[in-house]
Amino acid sequence: MGRFSFSLAPENVVNVAVQEGLIGEVGPVIAELTTGRKAMVLTHPVVADLFMNNLKASLESAGFAVQAMSLPEGESSKEWDNLTDIFAELRQGGFDRSDVIVSLGGGVAGDIATVVAGLYMRGLSLVHMPTTLLSQVDSCLGGKGAVNFGPGKNMLGLFYQPKLIVVDPDLLKTLPDEQLASGYAEAVKCALLSERVRLALGAWRLEGEPPAASFQPPEGATDGRLALGAWRLGETVRDQEPGTSHGSAPSSGDRVPGCGVSVGDFQPPRVMASPLHSNKNLLQQLRAGSQEPLIQACLTYKASVVKSDPLDTGVRQQLNLGHTFAHALEAVGGYSEYNHGQAVGLGLLAALRLSELRYGINRSIEDEVRRLLDELGLPTCTTYGYDDLQPYFKADKKGAAGKPRFVGLKALDEYAMIEDAREDELREALQAVFCESRQD
Ligand SMILES: NC(=O)c1ccc[n+]([C@@H]2O[C@H](COP(=O)([O-])OP(=O)(O)OC[C@H]3O[C@@H](n4cnc5c(N)ncnc54)[C@H](O)[C@@H]3O)[C@@H](O)[C@H]2O)c1
Repeated sequence: MGRFSFSLAPENVVNVAVQEGLIGEVGPVIAELTTGRKAMVLTHPVVADLFMNNLKASLESAGFAVQAMSLPEGESSKEWDNLTDIFAELRQGGFDRSDVIVSLGGGVAGDIATVVAGLYMRGLSLVHMPTTLLSQVDSCLGGKGAVNFGPGKNMLGLFYQPKLIVVDPDLLKTLPDEQLASGYAEAVKCALLSERVRLALGAWRLEGEPPAASFQPPEGATDGRLALGAWRLGETVRDQEPGTSHGSAPSSGDRVPGCGVSVGDFQPPRVMASPLHSNKNLLQQLRAGSQEPLIQACLTYKASVVKSDPLDTGVRQQLNLGHTFAHALEAVGGYSEYNHGQAVGLGLLAALRLSELRYGINRSIEDEVRRLLDELGLPTCTTYGYDDLQPYFKADKKGAAGKPRFVGLKALDEYAMIEDAREDELREALQAVFCESRQD
């Protein structure tokens, strides 16, 4: 089992477990974390049909009275009005601060559960059981919750940390290809910022980079199928590969300001030759293998960044690489034309072109990302251009004083904030993803 915990404050420990088959073992661990014995599971109809019986049985075996609410599928359920039904259900069910909210679903269920748990009675215990690759590699960790409001995405939200994140990669077996590919887009983003994720991704190929590799759990991580109930909460704290407020990954032995973690403590993963080759069936090859190493690499990378900057005012902003473009694309497409991962893939290409204009990074990085997205079946061009997207850049909540903010790369693993992007630069950056120009 891959497991680790990280604390954002003495009373705020986030426990993370990654292992195939965990869904049936989660009840006793949640019981260790909470004194209340009511659990509200927020999920979606499709996910509930697949996994709810298993989760419910585990929770009930640990003494929980379980209620479940099925939220509408998709981004449209991230609306404030939908939350009031959930609050009403909690009140009718007699939930109090000792009880627990469990999200069972992708990023949408997780975002809603975070807002509900953070607001109801000023805070219930929160547990995430992510079921999409996107939520397993990214959104389950970090404590961000939000709903949409007006033209901007995620405009109403908060930071509220889960006590426990239980990632069961087995749940991905039923995930449609389009959703699986969408999750890889966030993993590709992490790969641009973390060598460890590049190794775990396996399919990454770039001149001068380590060979494509598969990831092994770091030394000290527990292998084998331990029952989660045997896990002593908070026993394992491993911090790995944090970014810095200076915008680049620290060299070995650097100390990260404010978090007391020595990067020199990090044991690099063992690396094996990967069976992956360039082809059009990348998604099927990836699906055939275990997602556990990639998920562990992404989550340990993200945990180290979040620990350094829980409230997203500094180094954590690197995780928004490609996202100012992506959120604009999602919004202009009415949140139905592109899912989050598809938009992130396009956003990465535009951000890399902007980085080339600003910092002269090598076009081969953009080419490699385009190849990966293409082989994963993700879009690599759009008909939307600057004039379509520009109003959404301005509305983006990542900006300040009416100016949009973009994340760029000076090199792999070295990000930079761009707060003064000019119109001509953005127009040129978007040429990287403009369908007509790419067909010329
Ligand atoms: N909080 C954060 O840090 C953060 C980070 C990134 C993205 N997000 C948010 O996440 C959302 C996107 O999340 P998503 O891509 O996971 O989509 P999603 O939550 O909408 O799930 C996609 C669809 O897959 C179905 N599904 C989920 N798991 C399944 C499974 N195992 N088998 C079969 N079907 C399954 C769901 O029913 C749903 O219809 C966006 O709203 C985005 O803003 C949040």
